[in-house]
Amino acid sequence: MDPVYFDNAATTPVDPQVLETMLPYFTEDFGNADAAHQFGRNCKVAVEDAREEIARLINAEPSEIIFTSGGTESDNAAIKGVFSALSPAGKNEIITSPIEHHAVMHPAESLKRQGAKIVYLKPNSDGIITADQVKEAITEKTAVVSLMHINNEIGSINPVNEIAAVCSEAGVPFHSDTVQSVGKIPVDVKEIGLNMLSISAHKIYGPKGIGVLYVKNGTPWIPWLQGGSQERRRRGGTSNIPGIVGLTKAMALCDKNMEANTQKFVALRERLIDGLEKRFEGKFTINGPKDGGVPHIINIGFKTDSNQGLDGEMLLLNLDIEGVCVSNGSACTSGATEPSHVLQEIVGDETIANSSIRVSFGKQNNEKEIDFFLDKLEGVLDRMMKVAS
Ligand SMILES: Cc1ncc(COP(=O)(O)O)c(C=O)c1O
Repeated sequence: MDPVYFDNAATTPVDPQVLETMLPYFTEDFGNADAAHQFGRNCKVAVEDAREEIARLINAEPSEIIFTSGGTESDNAAIKGVFSALSPAGKNEIITSPIEHHAVMHPAESLKRQGAKIVYLKPNSDGIITADQVKEAITEKTAVVSLMHINNEIGSINPVNEIAAVCSEAGVPFHSDTVQSVGKIPVDVKEIGLNMLSISAHKIYGPKGIGVLYVKNGTPWIPWLQGGSQERRRRGGTSNIPGIVGLTKAMALCDKNMEANTQKFVALRERLIDGLEKRFEGKFTINGPKDGGVPHIINIGFKTDSNQGLDGEMLLLNLDIEGVCVSNGSACTSGATEPSHVLQEIVGDETIANSSIRVSFGKQNNEKEIDFFLDKLEGVLDRMMKVAS
């Protein structure tokens, strides 16, 4: 069997239909979208068509869509852009949570040097922040609230509609990192009522290095990346046309197939959990929400009969040798030895946090792969547990 890839929350393979849409823009329609000649004009049309389609898919206005290099840039631009706009007026507080992606946490932390105060709201054991917590934390000094939609490590879903309502009532801009939700669950900016959101193509079968920052018209926000006059002077840099058309196709396909993909993920999850229960009863726990999270992200912690933890890094490496690729945290921290900041916060037990793996499904996965994974996991765990106890 080919290696099984269960790390789709880190990145996904590009859909062949997406690739096909992108290819002409590398070789034939390769122009610079800002050029006045026909090569440029063709590309400009492609970019503006893409902008309209993306706006339609999330129910925004085309003028509210800014193309970026991905989720990290969008998160940085959102937080730093609002902070720059509002901090001169004395609004220097940023409300966020300790289980955000580093693309939110690190820019927030870096703003401390410019006088920002970061307020971290504590998630419950399912990884959820409530609107009441946000309401209580908002002060007249709050510049921005940034809370993610779906957590990339445990699959929890924040009540963004309720949080947006609280922020809107208080007149505070609300940004949500929707990198893991757009294309997976419905995201309608008007229905949610948020000011800003971040999208990344490579999580939804599109190319790496392209994303979107949605900024609702009227939001106090200063462009973060200066340069040329692209994106109506809100994000300098020559437009990544193949990326933009690829992202758009990827979003359209995910939108079209959302229900079918979700059903598939639900079935895969059930088979996995059933298998885990049959084979490893009492030796594993699901970190984060047992119900109510997204079906395609499952974070599993293991322990031995004598309640010892296992080395999650070794577990991951052993599974890799056996042909199964999972993750032990967010992709961006893979390779680092410290346990995931999300699990440390949610699980509160360093042993389990260190003994955990994240399994995340993509639309290309199937039930045979779940069975293969369970077989391999059984062998690896058996060996590791003998050594540990
Ligand atoms: C929730 C979340 N936000 C942001 C990012 C960063 O996105 P990108 O890789 O496009 O920079 C990721 C990717 O791991 C993510 O999962």
